[in-house]
Amino acid sequence: MEILTTTAEMMRWSANMQAARMRVALVPTMGFFHAGHISLMEMASQKADQVVVSLFVNPAQFGPGEDLTSYPQAFERDVAQARQAGVAVLFCPEPAEMYPPGFQTSVVVAGISQKLCGKSRPHHFGGVTTVVSKLFNLVRPHYAVFGEKDFQQLAVIRRLVVDLNIQVEIIGHHLVREKDGLAMSSRNAYLDRDERQQALCLWHGLQAARQHAMAGERRSAEIIKIVRDVISQHESCAIEYVEIINKDTLESRAIIDEDVILALAVRIGRTRLIDNGCLLHGEDHV
Ligand code: PAF
Repeated sequence: MEILTTTAEMMRWSANMQAARMRVALVPTMGFFHAGHISLMEMASQKADQVVVSLFVNPAQFGPGEDLTSYPQAFERDVAQARQAGVAVLFCPEPAEMYPPGFQTSVVVAGISQKLCGKSRPHHFGGVTTVVSKLFNLVRPHYAVFGEKDFQQLAVIRRLVVDLNIQVEIIGHHLVREKDGLAMSSRNAYLDRDERQQALCLWHGLQAARQHAMAGERRSAEIIKIVRDVISQHESCAIEYVEIINKDTLESRAIIDEDVILALAVRIGRTRLIDNGCLLHGEDHV
C-alpha cells in the first residue's frame, strides 16, 4: 500500500491509473477506523481494481467549539487496517496541503444541507462538499463509497454529483452496528462507560418506532413522540432532532410509508450522535 501525502502525488497516481484503464474506488474518511469503515473498503474493492482511502480530518466541516482538535486518531492502526483490507493508496494530506494559502473556494449544496444536522451545524455540509469535490478531482474515482449512518451527507453528495455532472457513481453502504445496536462511529470513543450505556437510547428509540410502525401506526407525530419519550428517560441525553423524512428529498413526512426513514441526533453529555433507519422493514445489520 502506498501512503501519499501531497495533491501532486495523488494526481500523478490517478493519471497513471487512468492510462492503465484501471477502475478506481474512493472511500473518503477521517480515520480512526472501525468495522464500518472496513466494510466500506471491502465494498469498494468488490467494485473496482484499485481502492483509494483518504484519511483527512477536514477542518472546514467543523464549526467553532466542535471537536476538530480532539477528533480521535490512531494513524498506525489505521495504516495497518487499510493495508489488511487490500487498499492500494492511503491519501493523508496535511490541512495546508488541501487548503493552501490563498484558498478561497467553497462548494455548497443549498437546500438539503440546511435541514436536520444542518440546522445546528450550518457550515458543516459546505465543508464536506468542498473537500469531497477536491477528493473527486484528485482521485478521479469511478466509484465513491459512503456510509448510510451519515444519511444526510450521502443525500447531499448524491445531489452534488448530479448538479455538477461529476462522473462518479456514489454507493451507499448500510449502517453497521455494534452487537448491542449502537451505530458504529469514531465519536463513540468519546463516551465513558455510563454514556456508552445511555447512547443505546438512539437504537432503543428506533426499535420502538419500528415496532409501532409495523403494528400499524402510520402517524409520524405519534411515532416521533414515542421515540422522544424513550430518549427523554435518560437524563444526560439531549435530543437535537427526531424526524421522519422522505429518504430521497429529506422532506418531513406526516404519514409513514415505505419511502420514509426515522433520523435522529442526540447529545450524550458532550458527544453528538446520529442514527437512522427504515420503519417498515428492519435494516438490522448488527
Ligand atoms: O464522513 C466523513 O468521515 C467525512 O464527512 C468525509 C466524507 C470523509 C469528508 O470529510
